[in-house]
Amino acid sequence: MGKESERKHAVIMVGLPARGKTYIASKVCRYLKWKGFPSKIFNTGRYRQDLDTELARKHDFFTSTVPDVANIRKKMIDQVLEDMVEWLKTEQARVGIYDATSITRERRKTVYELLSKEGFRVFFIESVCEDESIIQANIEQVKLTLPDYAHMDKQTAAEDFKKRLAAYEDVYEEIDLDHEGEYSFLRMIDVNRQIVCNKVNGYMQTGIVYLLMNVHIVPRTIYFSRHGESQFNVAGRIGGNSGLSPRGLQYAKALKTYMGEIKPENLEVWTSTMLRTIMTAEHFTECKREWRCLEEIDAGTCDGLTYEEIQEKFPDEFANRDEDKFNYRYPRGESYKDIITRLEPVLMELERAHNVLLVSHQAVLRCLLSYYLDIPPEELPYVKVPLHTLLKLTPTAYGCNVEQIPLKIDAVVTHRPPSQKAAEKAETAMKVRDEDAIEPTNI
Ligand code: G3H
Repeated sequence: MGKESERKHAVIMVGLPARGKTYIASKVCRYLKWKGFPSKIFNTGRYRQDLDTELARKHDFFTSTVPDVANIRKKMIDQVLEDMVEWLKTEQARVGIYDATSITRERRKTVYELLSKEGFRVFFIESVCEDESIIQANIEQVKLTLPDYAHMDKQTAAEDFKKRLAAYEDVYEEIDLDHEGEYSFLRMIDVNRQIVCNKVNGYMQTGIVYLLMNVHIVPRTIYFSRHGESQFNVAGRIGGNSGLSPRGLQYAKALKTYMGEIKPENLEVWTSTMLRTIMTAEHFTECKREWRCLEEIDAGTCDGLTYEEIQEKFPDEFANRDEDKFNYRYPRGESYKDIITRLEPVLMELERAHNVLLVSHQAVLRCLLSYYLDIPPEELPYVKVPLHTLLKLTPTAYGCNVEQIPLKIDAVVTHRPPSQKAAEKAETAMKVRDEDAIEPTNI
């Protein structure tokens, strides 16, 4: 069984189609990976897409009692579960997320017993929608854009989808405390208008509940910007608490002008407590918040030095950092991994917030971008976050779109490319990530 910190977890999604199960699963997966727990989604819709039989294309594939269809379906959903168990048994794996409907008590019992027998800690997440507008929005935004409907007009697709839905509704049994009180579960009603928890167990499940209590589906935009060019940037020095250079001051004005032209509704402006971010946001009159946990990576004994000086004074430290930049911690300083730990409160607040302009630092924005763009640790410390460039993040159904908006004011380049070895490690990680990428699902 191993220590609690080494336990493996199975998260089982529950709910009718168009209840946001994959949206929730992808949020949970991205969050757990960001916190350092290798996680992967096993989605029945994706497996169904891969079946090359016309029977799998039928709208009642997941509910038909016709023996041929039922046999193909059972074989497929058992395969999904089997693949998740095999993956969870691999050394690195920590959390498998079974993204299916699991809408009957009997099915949940089968899944629970199979996974518990393997020693995995099982956590059910049920999404219930009573608000028709949420269901309708999900149908239009995700379901009707799936390959199944590529050659159908919207009206026909909507009618077909409604038929699929009806077949499920007939057999759906919501998680019921009287019959399923032994399970650890979280029931979300209308996203998180109401949340019901039962036997939430341990750090992982608590973290998932914390995340899902904060997320919302109201469309909004997040803007990231580094501070304007600082005097230390110009001198090639890291850390410190210097003010802005003349070009950095120009950027502060240009940022206010740009945001004033697009006028995001109810904009909040967040900065770190360091002078260069506060000066960058000084022209904004909107609600401002200063966060200590948004401060730049603490370079410890190397603070205030140039990279050349670090290489000369601390050659081993310099080499070790290039070797594993994500986990490397400066003497009496921080690592990127440490930044992720201190960013969690800001991230949760960002999930709850509406439109936010967050002005912070290169290393910190790399860590936040890694959450929103699902960037693995090997790549994270090399993400390009140029000075004087606004990043516009628009959350989508299963992830986030990012747009770079350079404000055309020159600045020094502070990006240091990875060493050959680090580049190879990042390339390997990218290959694994592409295999796990979440594709649009269907029912
Ligand atoms: O120290 C300040 C820099 O923004 C961090 O950049 O992690 O690429 O050295 P670096």
